[in-house]
Amino acid sequence: MKYINKKLTIEKVRIQDIAKKFGSPTYCYSYLQLKKNINNFKKNFKSFSPLICFAIKSNTNINLIREIKKFGLGADVVSMGELMMAVKAGISPKKIVFSGVGKTSDEISYAIEKKILLINAESESEIKEIDRIANFKKKKIQIGIRLNPNTDAKTLSQISTGKKENKFGVNERKFFELVDYCRNSKNIELKCLSVHIGSQILNYKPYEKMIKVVDRIINKINHKFEFIDLGGGMGISYEDNDKKLNYKKYSTIIKKFLKKHKSKIIFEPGRSIIGNAGILISKIIYIKENHKKNFVILDSAMNDLIRPALYGARHKTLPSTRRKKSSNQTYEVVGPICESTDKFITLKNFQELKEKDLIVMCDVGAYGMSLSSNYNIRLKPAEILIKGSKIKVIRKRQKYKDLM
Ligand code: LLP
Repeated sequence: MKYINKKLTIEKVRIQDIAKKFGSPTYCYSYLQLKKNINNFKKNFKSFSPLICFAIKSNTNINLIREIKKFGLGADVVSMGELMMAVKAGISPKKIVFSGVGKTSDEISYAIEKKILLINAESESEIKEIDRIANFKKKKIQIGIRLNPNTDAKTLSQISTGKKENKFGVNERKFFELVDYCRNSKNIELKCLSVHIGSQILNYKPYEKMIKVVDRIINKINHKFEFIDLGGGMGISYEDNDKKLNYKKYSTIIKKFLKKHKSKIIFEPGRSIIGNAGILISKIIYIKENHKKNFVILDSAMNDLIRPALYGARHKTLPSTRRKKSSNQTYEVVGPICESTDKFITLKNFQELKEKDLIVMCDVGAYGMSLSSNYNIRLKPAEILIKGSKIKVIRKRQKYKDLM
């Protein structure tokens, strides 16, 4: 995105033209950025060509998943719905891994029917259930076991998953027990050790620790894992001064690991693939001054983008038209929902804002639309994909009749 003649432009399309044609709030994605992210991700790890399974939960738009699939990516899914969506988007089941602590019997059955690459199991009970269903269906199932490496990802506590107090994976002792269980089962083939320590990780050191744990555990058992699934979690820069994940270091650590253990690496990235490829366009409905505060009230709200309300996340916010005049006021940018956490950001030293202005929130491609809801019976936004000067509606705005 850049300003051309003071107008914010995504690829070759002006934000104001998108809003005029499709209304607001609208999620808008750049194909160019998506392509760049995928190619960079591949390049960073090209020496061991991992299987890259896009984490569907980060963005569930079938048209985007179809584009992602064209680059050869697989999918990481966590529910029957996500598995159906990945398959419908044309992703080969042989490139699909299924994570999650609470897979139901129906979900396990469906995954088995679809012959996906791996069910990454997260508990003894789940493995026994897979065993039972596989036995019933007379099928041999490939699984992974998710290890909880008790590693602090040094990220927000709400999106940290690899510490011993988190519900994810199994501890070391259990892991060994379950390896034995799988070896004695005629229905299960234990193919993978999986880990995922959290999301929005910007420091390579937690990954280094995680791999050390994995290495130590593999050394203790005599089992050949065809796959090591290292999960996702690679962070992106939400603020200009955010540090960047050192992919080179991470890749070097993995290469060292692979010298000792000959396995295929799987990654499950979501945010690093789609996060910075999406923006949310909103319109200012009203500006009101109240008790010395200036509230900028948008037509988007926490139901459209919940990250600020849920995690205190900050999304860079830009005006669609640049004005010279800077305001000496502080703007509190909020949505119309009846909750005080329905607030996006506080803007200081921002340009002067007016009612009907368009505002863009950046880096919302991941966990933006996929976490949206109909709270307050508000319609879910439209989604649009930009390719150069081409605009494609990839999801229509919801209609009231869909909800009544
Ligand atoms: N694999 C597993 C097993 C996961 O649980 C997740 C994310 C991923 C992969 C993808 O992680 P990523 O590469 O996108 O960081 N709603 C939060 C993020 C929750 C992440 C949940 N798990 C947010 O908006 O920041």
